[in-house]
Amino acid sequence: MHSYACIFVNHHIAHAYSAFFSSGLDDALVFVADGAGDYIDGMQEAESLFIAHEGKIEMICRRLQNPTTGHLTDERNYLLPHMPSFIQNYEISLGKKYSQITHLIELGRNGEGKTMGLAGYGKPLFHYNAYTKGDFLNFSLKYKDLLEEIFSLKASSGKSYKEFIRDERANIASTVQLMTENTIIDLLDDVLNLYPCKNLVLSGGIFLNCILNGKIINKFDLNNFYALPPAGDDGQAFRCGILCICKMLVYKINLK
Ligand SMILES: [Fe+2]
Repeated sequence: MHSYACIFVNHHIAHAYSAFFSSGLDDALVFVADGAGDYIDGMQEAESLFIAHEGKIEMICRRLQNPTTGHLTDERNYLLPHMPSFIQNYEISLGKKYSQITHLIELGRNGEGKTMGLAGYGKPLFHYNAYTKGDFLNFSLKYKDLLEEIFSLKASSGKSYKEFIRDERANIASTVQLMTENTIIDLLDDVLNLYPCKNLVLSGGIFLNCILNGKIINKFDLNNFYALPPAGDDGQAFRCGILCICKMLVYKINLK
């Protein structure tokens, strides 16, 4: 006779558990940043911070975002002239902002790695940092942010949309790459000052960005840096397995 237990797994908590418990570390600051996690009261997880110590993981804070209207491939989500005003002020995750700009420069769905590579061939059009000192995860990043500045540069260039994107593609990629680096590094700087920790564990699709990871390693005086190799949702099965094993150990659930 077999018995089964059904364990519901929160997306960002699964990210945190799998990264920390596969890191081999005893304690760490754990940061999760992806496109979107689970739904919570009509919003969706954007970024989450955790402290892990002696086998326990505790959430410090979490930022939520508005769910995307349709798929991100929907032009209303990334072309400012077609974006309804209520969407313009929606909150967006750092990961989804990177995807939004990837769609804008026509590198397509799952093209974020191409955006990262292309960024090296351009120069930022302007500096943008979503993080303000002391905010932790209370910062605001809206659907219209970056796009407003980019479309205003397009208007003053006198070029058509297609010409502008063709000519500025690498510079736009460089702009969103720099925004992502500045925002995350300034955020981590504040968090590591308040929660001094020499071990940093990262999970979520944002941390497939090896340029960002390299800058984090160079910036902070860490003993250990660990980014879960399947940082995106390709690691979800592994994540759920780790979290379920942890829950089984804690709650002594017997699946035999
Ligand atoms: Fe995720």
